Amino acid sequence: MNMRLALLGSALLLGLRPVDNGLARTPPMGWNSWNHFGCDVSAQLIKETADAIVASGMRDAGYRYVVIDDCWQVARDRAGKIVADSVRFPGGMKPLADYVHSKGLKFGLYTDAGRKTCQGRPGTYGSEEIDARTYAEWGVDYVKEDWCNAQGLDAPTQYAKFRDALAKSGRPIVFSICEWGSNRPWTWGPKTGNLWRTTGDIGDYWASMISRVDLNTQYAQSASPGGWNDPDMLEVGNGGMTDDEYRAHFSLWAIMAAPLMAGNDVRTMSAATRDILTNKEVIAVDQDSLGVQGMIVEEPGPDLQVWSKLLADSSRAVVLLNRSALQTAISAPWWSLRIRGAATVRDLWTHTDLGTFDDHFSATVPAHGVVMARITPRHG
Ligand code: GLA
Repeated sequence: MNMRLALLGSALLLGLRPVDNGLARTPPMGWNSWNHFGCDVSAQLIKETADAIVASGMRDAGYRYVVIDDCWQVARDRAGKIVADSVRFPGGMKPLADYVHSKGLKFGLYTDAGRKTCQGRPGTYGSEEIDARTYAEWGVDYVKEDWCNAQGLDAPTQYAKFRDALAKSGRPIVFSICEWGSNRPWTWGPKTGNLWRTTGDIGDYWASMISRVDLNTQYAQSASPGGWNDPDMLEVGNGGMTDDEYRAHFSLWAIMAAPLMAGNDVRTMSAATRDILTNKEVIAVDQDSLGVQGMIVEEPGPDLQVWSKLLADSSRAVVLLNRSALQTAISAPWWSLRIRGAATVRDLWTHTDLGTFDDHFSATVPAHGVVMARITPRHG
């Protein structure tokens, strides 16, 4: 049995048959308005963002879904159809979706499985079918469904209802479950959606980012092509962390095969932010076709970790993570990576081949930072 079949086999044994909409065979990549803009969304912002995703090289690096989070919706009409804010979205969502599509990108919206969204806008509860139909009609390719104002409702039931409504709409739509890990979504998420949040909301600071990692890593067995653990959207470029910290954030999301949804203002980002978000060698780790969520394989000291992710070509993506406030050397012994004999090492942030090593790889890692490498055994 090859490795891919073995992994799929273990997911099936756990009863984790992926949702069969055929989408998100690798973790979804894109941009979402919430982390930077909150409720301040508009058609203008979305168009300028789509333009910037193309101009910055993000589209070419793999970012696809442009997702409007909460606050685009204001009411339902007499027929029960959801109505977009006509001041912020003149002309409605269809022409905006068309614009995004014309840039070679895909279009996404947010809703809530409860009665109202987290910001008090109309929720989807009781309107699942009409909402799914409306989104399909507008050309929506991705829906994020939140869990506010859902008191007394059963999460697996409500999310399955919307999964089925989306399937019935006839349009392929990525389904993003956002119930913050409250109802063990890693057990029913794989058969319900393409990604499911495992944590509460991320904040733009180191301790918040790292605590999402510590939660998300506990459910690694549930991830496989088509269904991914979601430790929340990226904060890279929002200003609350150093570039070393953002590199660590991005590397950890990639090694965990997490969705890569940028959450910054891509119209005005610095060159350093752009370089982090478009690092193709790190993105290739996230998007590897084997679809394994990497894990901690060794903790050589307090606040020091070695992470490893098996890739389709049998190389290992490795993150040396320094969670401490002092620059430190970290070593990844071959036994922890299940490698025997010589292996070549490539640094994925400096984009350099470091040579061939026989039994370990060590590097000096900045405080609150990482060294990330791709380690390829000479003999399989
Ligand atoms: C919740 C979600 C966030 C965001 C906001 C919008 O907090 O977890 O990701 O969608 O709602 O109100």
